[in-house]
Amino acid sequence: MKLIAGNWKMNGALAQCRTFAQDLLEQLTPLQRQKCQIVLAPPYPYFSFLEGRLVSGGVLLAGQDCAPWGQSGAYTGDVSAAMLRDVGCTHVILGHSERRQRHGETDALVLKKMTAAWDAGLTPILCIGETAAENESGQTKAVLERQLASLKEAPADAPLIIAYEPVWAIGTGKVPNTQEIQETCAHIAAVVEPVLKKPPCVLYGGSVSGENATAILQLPTVHGALVGGASLKPAEFLKIIEAAC
Ligand code: PGA
Repeated sequence: MKLIAGNWKMNGALAQCRTFAQDLLEQLTPLQRQKCQIVLAPPYPYFSFLEGRLVSGGVLLAGQDCAPWGQSGAYTGDVSAAMLRDVGCTHVILGHSERRQRHGETDALVLKKMTAAWDAGLTPILCIGETAAENESGQTKAVLERQLASLKEAPADAPLIIAYEPVWAIGTGKVPNTQEIQETCAHIAAVVEPVLKKPPCVLYGGSVSGENATAILQLPTVHGALVGGASLKPAEFLKIIEAAC
């Protein structure tokens, strides 16, 4: 079964949530629901609205981030993993390059957040990926290995999804060729499997669209997609879901 996760980032509005949920649920076929796990990560304010509509329709909810500290406390502006779980989330996106770049998140901080997610019963979707400069200088594998190194601290049997998102492919319309995606996702699996003692679920993310989804999702080392911009448009998101089935 493939996993298609939509990352709305800081986009959306209440009216858009209403039409999105209606359009998506009306058009999702029973076969698509059966063959594809769909996860949506909207901004926090829209959780309760979407939870009521999407979860009953078989769509899972994810946070886009969580705090590295416990369940609650004096941390103004933060949202804990336990709170995400409390409002119906099953997953949380962590270590997204936008958070690494704009909020200075380090691999050590991302590990603390993953631990908080595991403690709360959430499955982290750990984002890793190289910048354009790192790619051009042949450092892709070394960067990914560095970003994955902290997984050695992961508890046995911890649920985890890895999203390979080249930074230069996010929101740019540029996508690595399918051979590169295939090889890089295979490399990620080879690095992670001995640590987690099971083959990991590896998603590709970065400018996934209705047009390129079929070629990407048929790669044997790609278990799904993390979709940004295209997840805001129900018709486009549905095309990607269809490509996964
Ligand atoms: P994009 O974003 O699909 O808009 O490139 C992907 C992501 O950042 O997760």
